Amino acid sequence: MSTATAPEKSMDQIVALCKRRGLIYPASDIYGGLNGFWDYGPLGTQLKNNIRDDWWRRMVECPPIGPDGEPLALVGLDSAIIQHPTTWVASGHVEQFTDPMVDCRSCKARFRADQLADYECPQKPSRRAGEHEKCDLTDPREFNLMFESHVGAVKDESSKVHLRPETAQGIFLNYKNVLDTMRVKVPFGIAQFGKAFRNEVTPRNFIFRSREFEQMEMEWFCHEADSMDWFEYWKHERMQWWLSLGIAAENLQYRDHDEKELAHYSKACVDVEYRYPFTSPGFGELEGIAHRGCYDLTQHQLFSKQKLQYFDPQRNETYLPNVIEPASGLSRGVLVLICEAYTVDESRPSKLYLKFHPRMAPIKAAIFPLVAKDGMPEAAQKLYLELRRRVSVQLDVKQNIGKRYARMDEAGTPYCFTVDGQTLTDQTVTVRDRDTVAQERIGIDKVEPFLAERIGDGG
Ligand code: GAP
Repeated sequence: MSTATAPEKSMDQIVALCKRRGLIYPASDIYGGLNGFWDYGPLGTQLKNNIRDDWWRRMVECPPIGPDGEPLALVGLDSAIIQHPTTWVASGHVEQFTDPMVDCRSCKARFRADQLADYECPQKPSRRAGEHEKCDLTDPREFNLMFESHVGAVKDESSKVHLRPETAQGIFLNYKNVLDTMRVKVPFGIAQFGKAFRNEVTPRNFIFRSREFEQMEMEWFCHEADSMDWFEYWKHERMQWWLSLGIAAENLQYRDHDEKELAHYSKACVDVEYRYPFTSPGFGELEGIAHRGCYDLTQHQLFSKQKLQYFDPQRNETYLPNVIEPASGLSRGVLVLICEAYTVDESRPSKLYLKFHPRMAPIKAAIFPLVAKDGMPEAAQKLYLELRRRVSVQLDVKQNIGKRYARMDEAGTPYCFTVDGQTLTDQTVTVRDRDTVAQERIGIDKVEPFLAERIGDGG
């Protein structure tokens, strides 16, 4: 559990650390950046991959056990980002995937009309947008969030396509393919992660709301009669997974959508929320778990004129399955793990460290020769070459040991192994724990099992 309290975690400091330590950079940095776009640096990419791989393992390779005591039937998918244009008409995105937008004629700033209370007035930051006497807001107008492009050489209405605003629709388009080819029976799920694009009116709060981001979504196809039980099942399961990544329970909560927020076809929707530094003491969305009824399959059946019904041999019934959808943001997951890990500790040379769960840490272990002589670099190199086959490990031979520890603290590396004079005589190394800074000696041959025990397999 993190020892730092929320006020110590300033977003400015977190953003600065992310850039300094190669986690996340502004996209197109050398050209001054591009609003709403971010690049993941070496450590950020590794962190993102660790979250994504853990999710994939939990969803596809080692799915959870179902209520009947058997592992759930879940398969993976990687569909195209650009799909047939009718996809987004059928799904309702062309018609309804809009945000109300207003402009200020006075300062030229643009706001989401439904979130005016969340914005400072650029001319007078002590006031909310629209509240200053100089504010002159236009009427709200609907703005579709999908990015447009064109397929082929001619740019006209007939060649217009959209970059997907969610990964989910690619799953619905392939529901029948999966049914026909994978010998699955309802209930079953299809999981997919990947890029999604939304031309957000006001991207903000670092990677929380960006225009290009990654999602991890799963559509669970089930009979309507069981659908509310499955909704509860996935609500519980998803919270457990976020907790397993080392997020403190007091920083996560559920928020049920009220009747007014629910789409007409939806029976229920709940968000898993996190206490971000910019929402604290309140919470903001991390994942949504939605009961989508049979809306998407009904729409795609209608528009494609393909039969998407399922014959259920056990019930002797033909129907369109209902869908429970746990839809999470991978980019938001990265932000949450960084915010959660950011720990202020004035007693350290680095003044802070990233307390990642060892399974999520971008670098699991660092190996240092105490000094660059007397056979220590060679022994450290040997250990490094053995370990790197199994875990993400770094060999660091430069600068004094304190600076090397500080670098690894800022990178969130849980264990640092140091080869010193004693190593050469008794084949032991010191291991320094990132969180306690305590050191102990263990045999070189125990380093690999030591790491395996602490990093675990995520199952
Ligand atoms: N298929 C359902 C769907 O896309 P959503 O609530 O719009 O639902 C799911 O998105 C998740 O994707 C959100 O909970 C959030 O984590 C992430 N997400 C949505 N818009 C985002 C944005 N502009 N930037 C970063 N993450 C975003």
